[in-house]
Amino acid sequence: MLKQLPADLQIDRLPRHVAVIMDGNGRWAKSQGLPRIMGHRRGADTLKDLLRCCSDWGIGALTAYAFSTENWGRPLEEVDFLMSLFERILRRELKEMMEEDVRIRFVGDLSLLPSSLQAEIAQSMADTANNQGIQFTVATNYGGRQEIIQACQAIAQQVQAGTLEPTAITEELFAKHLYTAGIGDPDLLIRTSGEMRISNFLLWQLAYAEMYITDTLWPDFDRQEFHNALISYQKRDRRFGKVK
Ligand code: IPE
Ligand code: IPE
Ligand code: MG
Repeated sequence: MLKQLPADLQIDRLPRHVAVIMDGNGRWAKSQGLPRIMGHRRGADTLKDLLRCCSDWGIGALTAYAFSTENWGRPLEEVDFLMSLFERILRRELKEMMEEDVRIRFVGDLSLLPSSLQAEIAQSMADTANNQGIQFTVATNYGGRQEIIQACQAIAQQVQAGTLEPTAITEELFAKHLYTAGIGDPDLLIRTSGEMRISNFLLWQLAYAEMYITDTLWPDFDRQEFHNALISYQKRDRRFGKVK
């Protein structure tokens, strides 16, 4: 295992924040002749490995899309399995996350999650809040449009109450009302399984992210695959609309 940063990567040009759309669990399971849920189970192991890899290689923040606001439309048994998987993983991994100094945070409308999962989430966020290692964000019941709407509602209420001038609504102020407040925007977005779309993920925050799409299915996305993504990222010329 590549514990150290591979020699062909430049340490001073690593993304500070990596976001991943973990897609392809169902297709992976199908390819193995297994039920879809087995793909999710394997996908959870992949995420754990990626978190540790980011931490080993000195990447400060990882954000993973675990469940979208649209994913409620899946068969009930798949949704139920995912909710109980999230809960089991949190319970099982909390001790290790403490040892590895991970700060975990969940973003999305958490109020619609099963209450036992909400309790596990609250516990893990509270326990790891003062850790100093990697910032690990899990988007659960997350939708980019929903996030923007709830920010608008909060801001509109302040305007209505007379505590905020409309002209004081800046990009900085708006970003403070998003779930990701305090976490910098992703530098690199990875999507597995070849789909070339955002699927309602971090619509605001991805404005200038570099995108890396691979045909590899999420359960097969290992350190070598992540290494390839970082090589690709380091070849990019990030212009941010300017000329050199
Ligand atoms: C991603 O894998 C995991 C979640 C959306 C929870 P999928 O379940 O979307 O897998 P495919 O796209 O059907 O292969
Ligand atoms: C995006 O994957 C959501 C997550 C990875 C949690 P989907 O499989 O839900 O996205 P679509 O349906 O292919 O756009
Ligand atoms: Mg999918």
